[in-house]
Amino acid sequence: MAQPFTWWQRGLIYQVYPRSFLDSNADGTGDLPGITQKLEYLQWLGVDAIWISPIYPSPMVDFGYDVANYTDVDPIFGTLADFDELLKQAHAKDIRVILDYVPNHTSDQHPWFRESRASRTNAKRDWYIWRDTPNNWLSVFGGSAWTFDEATRQYYYHAYLKEQPDLNWRNPAVQDAMYDVLRFWFDKGVDGFRIDALRQVMKHQDLPDNPPNPNWQPGRDPYQSLLLTYSADQPELMDVVHRFREVAEEYKDRVLIGELWLSIQRLVAYYGENGRGLHLPFNFHLILTPWQAHQISGLIDTYEQALPPDAWPNWVLGNHDRSRIATRVGAAQARVAAMLLLTLRGTPTLYNGDEIGMHDVPIPPELVQDPFEHNVPGIGAGRDPERTPLQWNDFPNAGFTAAKEPWLPLADDYRSCNVAAQQSDPRSMLSLHRALIYLRRKMPALSVGTYMHVYTDDDLLVYERAVAQERVRVALNLSHRERQLEWRAPRGKVLLSTHLDRDGEVGPRLDLRPDEGVVALLDQ
Ligand code: GLC
Repeated sequence: MAQPFTWWQRGLIYQVYPRSFLDSNADGTGDLPGITQKLEYLQWLGVDAIWISPIYPSPMVDFGYDVANYTDVDPIFGTLADFDELLKQAHAKDIRVILDYVPNHTSDQHPWFRESRASRTNAKRDWYIWRDTPNNWLSVFGGSAWTFDEATRQYYYHAYLKEQPDLNWRNPAVQDAMYDVLRFWFDKGVDGFRIDALRQVMKHQDLPDNPPNPNWQPGRDPYQSLLLTYSADQPELMDVVHRFREVAEEYKDRVLIGELWLSIQRLVAYYGENGRGLHLPFNFHLILTPWQAHQISGLIDTYEQALPPDAWPNWVLGNHDRSRIATRVGAAQARVAAMLLLTLRGTPTLYNGDEIGMHDVPIPPELVQDPFEHNVPGIGAGRDPERTPLQWNDFPNAGFTAAKEPWLPLADDYRSCNVAAQQSDPRSMLSLHRALIYLRRKMPALSVGTYMHVYTDDDLLVYERAVAQERVRVALNLSHRERQLEWRAPRGKVLLSTHLDRDGEVGPRLDLRPDEGVVALLDQ
């Protein structure tokens, strides 16, 4: 292959939600030394890079997405020295480290906002968005996006909580300060950033009212009742993205990933022209698309066709904001989903715990932590269920913490569903993930090969990945019934089944069991 591929193209990204990964100091919340302790596990699993959700000093109103200091570590997670140690040990194991960068808003406790709200004439007043009268924009987490500040008698804008005021990215001083934040961590050796809430960073200059969404129905998430015509995805955002890229290019081999909940057509625009945009605008469409063969097949084709030349695809199955895949599609289909994620063309991102099939944990009302659930109750908005502690073993609290209570309750099945139990079970969900990850690493067709659609019907999705002479066919049964597939290709050899119990020849027919996926190498 003429084209060289970088670590973030070949590799697998694993999202660590640090509060819930491993607690090393018995305070009930996960921390940086906890992640360092589990690097060996991540290396065993075959992870190439970890993305860690925010670790910065924060009042934790939005669990770290309310940053009070961009260049330090919150004591709950440890110290900067703990971070340096994690980075050093990760790099020694050839694991890259990606941090979360939250440019859209700070905490209301950030010194910049404290100054900004001190008086109308403060030098930092214009670092945030202040107006005499609010427009109709809504907060993602419920209610108006504007809060009245008694002291200076103006409203400030917050796309999220009132404790998360939006920075004014039209102010060049804000831009410079925020580019320096990237440099601070890049200088330490951080390998990249996942950029939070990117679509909202630039707002329309005049802040006009957003139009109503004709498709919204009462009872649904109230935030969706307006279109985000003027509050997100503005043309000027591309200039900022170009600057992010320029800063990243001051360093070698770094990656920029963007959190962008956008249609495929708008999403791919963020690759930018001639490689001037993001390396990986997060593709969340496997989360948004119904779990049905025609729908998924259509999604893959649409995405593949929309990608600009030289853009590298990526796929996400779950994260700390969305119901877990095992809950969305059920335990049996979650295995098929893992095979899909790890055999599609493009960088996969795996959410911690999904590798053992963790499911959403129902949270009793008195234990709810997420402000989203408090502010917008009754529609299942809360994100605690997918943020519960990692289940390491069958010890008390699943080996997550030595504290009496973890910050969120554990799943009630942790005694059987945990990393240790699954490591010694050759057919477990964890063994399936590891086998898929190693197969993907071993076979260039799977890590960097082309994608070709082969066949879809109501139950089946079949595609091929190929590079040079290596041709790999993936056949997924998205139904709970047995299916037969006319092979219509050279005979093949089964490399892996989601049931982890099969090898042998395929063709002229493949019998698929309920909820089974198969990867086969075609004879030349
Ligand atoms: C992103 C994060 C989410 C957070 C929000 C505000 O969507 O993924 O967890 O609450 O931004 O920062």
